[in-house]
Amino acid sequence: MERIGVIGGGLMGGGIAEVCARAGADVVVVEVSPDAASAAEERVRSSIDRAESRGKISAAEATEALGRITFTADLASLADRQLVVEAASEQESVKLDLFRQVGAILEDDEAILASNTSSIPIVKLGAVSGRPDRVMGVHFFNPAPVMQLVELVPSLTTSPETIARVQTFVSETLRKQPIEATDRAGFVVNSLLVPYLLSAIRMYEAGYASAADIDKGMVLGCGHPMGPLALSDLIGLDTLRAIGVSLYDEFKEPLYSPPPLLERMVDAGLLGKKSGHGFYPY
Ligand code: NAI
Repeated sequence: MERIGVIGGGLMGGGIAEVCARAGADVVVVEVSPDAASAAEERVRSSIDRAESRGKISAAEATEALGRITFTADLASLADRQLVVEAASEQESVKLDLFRQVGAILEDDEAILASNTSSIPIVKLGAVSGRPDRVMGVHFFNPAPVMQLVELVPSLTTSPETIARVQTFVSETLRKQPIEATDRAGFVVNSLLVPYLLSAIRMYEAGYASAADIDKGMVLGCGHPMGPLALSDLIGLDTLRAIGVSLYDEFKEPLYSPPPLLERMVDAGLLGKKSGHGFYPY
């Protein structure tokens, strides 16, 4: 698969586009508006520049990778893609709408439509796409250019051929490490991670300890590379909230339910690193 589409050029979509372009693919990134497309381009450019300044890629590779990515607000530009990875905001209605539209836009009958969703059932996205056997979850981790893991999530209707093609693309073209999970909210990693992050927010909200000390506790006490509140800021508090809501809807476990402080921070636009302020200022 050489012609890739990415829907949404935010934190994850930008990173996924960069990973695909650095692996040699031709990439089209679709955003909601020309301004959002320019912002996505700027994000990807600065991330590729950072990779170059850290010596991860040469100046020539950086220029080539950027040259392989087109940024647009026109969904119809996805028509000739062989694989489209949807990484738009974590809202079921937004994703259903996109799968409905893009399923009809793709010209190649064999084209695969994947979602980077963290918690929305893949089977629902497949059902509206007109190609349920060629839809699956492909869940990258943040930051996508750095993190090695990709969760592959076939739904009840995904064909074995689709799974095999995506597996080959992820492991051989992108050189990432896939694991396979069933189509249940949260898959493997978020099912374990999200209740832990929400527990840290509850602990902070209840005044057990300062944000810095909660994080320091887990970094120095458990050897984690980052504490839970800093990691929540990195994920994006709106995204974390949305994943918690989906997990709670699916399993009805209180530990998945977003605590009031998280709700209020999202209402206030304190979304973490991407908005400049969350549990910490950026
Ligand atoms: P984000 O808020 O940084 O980016 C979402 C982007 O989608 C925005 O730029 C927005 O303009 C765009 N968008 C919204 N509706 C659109 C539409 N109809 N067409 C085109 N673009 C549209 O969010 P983020 O963090 O990149 O999350 C995206 C997806 O990736 C979500 O499904 C999320 O659950 C998932 N994810 C997030 C991770 C994280 O650590 N933030 C990790 C793994 C998956």
